[in-house]
Amino acid sequence: MKKTYRIAVIPGDGIGPEVIAEGVKVLNKAAELDGSFQFDFTYFPWGCEYYLGHGKMMDDDGLEQLKDFDAIYLGAVGYPGVPDHISLWGLLLKIRKGFDQYVNLRPIKLLDGVRCPLNNVQSEQVDMLVIRENSEGEYAGAGEWLMKDSPQEVVLQTGVFSRKGTERIIRYAYELARKHGKTLTSISKGNALNYSMVFWDQVFDEVGKEYPDVKTSSYLVDAASMYFIKDPKRFEVVVASNLFGDILTDLGAAIAGGLGLAAGANINPERKYPSMFEPIHGSAPRHAGKQTANPLASVWSASQMLDFLGHSDWGNKLIKTMEELIVRGEVLTQDMGGTATTTEVGDEIVSLLDHSFAIK
Ligand code: NAI
Ligand code: MG
Repeated sequence: MKKTYRIAVIPGDGIGPEVIAEGVKVLNKAAELDGSFQFDFTYFPWGCEYYLGHGKMMDDDGLEQLKDFDAIYLGAVGYPGVPDHISLWGLLLKIRKGFDQYVNLRPIKLLDGVRCPLNNVQSEQVDMLVIRENSEGEYAGAGEWLMKDSPQEVVLQTGVFSRKGTERIIRYAYELARKHGKTLTSISKGNALNYSMVFWDQVFDEVGKEYPDVKTSSYLVDAASMYFIKDPKRFEVVVASNLFGDILTDLGAAIAGGLGLAAGANINPERKYPSMFEPIHGSAPRHAGKQTANPLASVWSASQMLDFLGHSDWGNKLIKTMEELIVRGEVLTQDMGGTATTTEVGDEIVSLLDHSFAIK
């Protein structure tokens, strides 16, 4: 009997629905070609439009509705007309935090055929996996707004680094580096952030004692930003706090082909709750409804979902197929120098998959 994966789909705002539609097509094709599994997709209308109609980004019992799915597939959240902190906290962060998706996995890999904006950099020199802490740190939402709107106004935004939270993300990174035989780089700022990042460095060293086989480095975040550009091959597995990981992965996306290609998985490693897969870009209002958005970031996150569900053979096949599409260069969206529509790119991936992997 076929295994059925129940996937909650939240297309969200702007280009979200357009790019997710292509990812869904590709996932269905992978399942069809494999034959041993299938997908059952359930759609949720949550996002900014929902907010304008209902005064909230998702249903009050939204997490309850999502909790029994095998995974969540999300497009993008946020649109002009709803303040970004409302849309972000009302949906995306609610899910990430509520489901303890404390690992954010962001591959930064220059695929064959993708033009790198850096001079003389070959594709094998940009191949890293950034592990971003996803549950606390600088995005814990802790702080105070004192004497609001008065001349004495004071705002405090507090970073929260618990021992549990810091240890588990660093341990996850060591495990992954060990498993893949890669080096591990910690991103810090212990010179200026004299509590949080001194603690982070200490935990990185402590946990490292259990992994003497893993070769490590530690960089200050400013120096790391420079080396991402000047010498990206230094980085293999990278572990960073929520804020540093957020910023560095947009930089990473820029050197690996742009936001139209970058994917991220929000993982609850214990599998107590569903994990969530999404392109890292936003709703790109400029492209919304025009069929000009690049769906490849969504396809890449679909590949991460397949990895997570235990089908990394198909995860790899999707990446290979994206490379084939890009090397051919005939069916690409504008951001990659082409003229194809979002749907045409998705259809082409499906047809390349058919061509390469159908049992003949
Ligand atoms: P954005 O990622 O939507 O766009 C940044 C730039 O990249 C724009 O020039 C956009 O046109 C381009 N771009 C992004 N994705 C693309 C794609 N697939 N194909 C072609 N071009 C693409 O970020 P921006 O403009 O800062 O934010 C727009 C809205 O999205 C805001 O409301 C923001 O809060 C939200 N947002 C949501 C995220 C999420 O849901 N995970 C992440 C980032 C932003
Ligand atoms: Mg970001």
